[in-house]
Amino acid sequence: MKKGKKLYEGKAKIIFATNQKDLVIQHFKDDATAFNNQKKSNIEGKGVLNNRISEHILTNLSDVGVKNHFVKRLNMREQLIKFVEIIPIEFIVRNIATGSLTKRLGIEDGTVLENPLIEYCLKNDDLGDPLISKEHIFAFDWATTKEIEKINKSLYRINDFMSGMFRGVGIKLVDFKVEFGRIKINGKNEIILADEISPDTCRLWDNKTEKKLDKDRFRNNLGNLIQGYKEVARRLGILHEQSNIRPIKFTKPTEVNIKKNR
Ligand code: TMP
Repeated sequence: MKKGKKLYEGKAKIIFATNQKDLVIQHFKDDATAFNNQKKSNIEGKGVLNNRISEHILTNLSDVGVKNHFVKRLNMREQLIKFVEIIPIEFIVRNIATGSLTKRLGIEDGTVLENPLIEYCLKNDDLGDPLISKEHIFAFDWATTKEIEKINKSLYRINDFMSGMFRGVGIKLVDFKVEFGRIKINGKNEIILADEISPDTCRLWDNKTEKKLDKDRFRNNLGNLIQGYKEVARRLGILHEQSNIRPIKFTKPTEVNIKKNR
């Protein structure tokens, strides 16, 4: 597999072409951004952890029948993925109210939702990824009724599977964001899960202490982001006890590991 030219660079990842037109390479950077790029940093080791965690989750989802773009991990920072046409919508699933939902609607932080709540945001950085309704999606042809029906079903399946997977290792899946893409498989149009699933795109709280193990550590200046991500990886069995990771210690917020605005 030959790595070709850069096709696209996002805030946390780069996509490279390969010598096969249906496959591309996804490279995980250490860059972290929040609040639509207003807060920026470079956190050493984040990309490597997200590459491994996303590989683990997408492989497991594939095993339970959720088709996705992951093909194989190539190295510490890169994975081979299927080339898809990304649907320009960020699909958010929430189990517990926090983040923008609480700010937008005044719902108390930590409220457990009776049913998972699906939200749609337009994938457009210039507009700050605004919340949209299904009516907007159909009015502007961002996806068809059939596609949204299929995706919603898949979102519930992904949520059920991931909630169970994380609960089994003492973590609450609070919410997450995923993306989907269009692809032709054996001449048939299909919609598959794409992008990444990692602590950058999920909110993960320790079951007992509700300590945050995700990108909120960066968003809210809590420090120790890498320790949080490593803890997720360790509990999922990706990093093993014998590896030389320090046990997680959430003391005062520090900026350790965070090299500002590099
Ligand atoms: P929010 O509460 O800020 O709307 O975030 C909801 C979920 O979506 C949370 O798990 C973080 C994730 N997310 C992304 O992955 N990318 C984004 O650009 C945003 C705004 C949220």
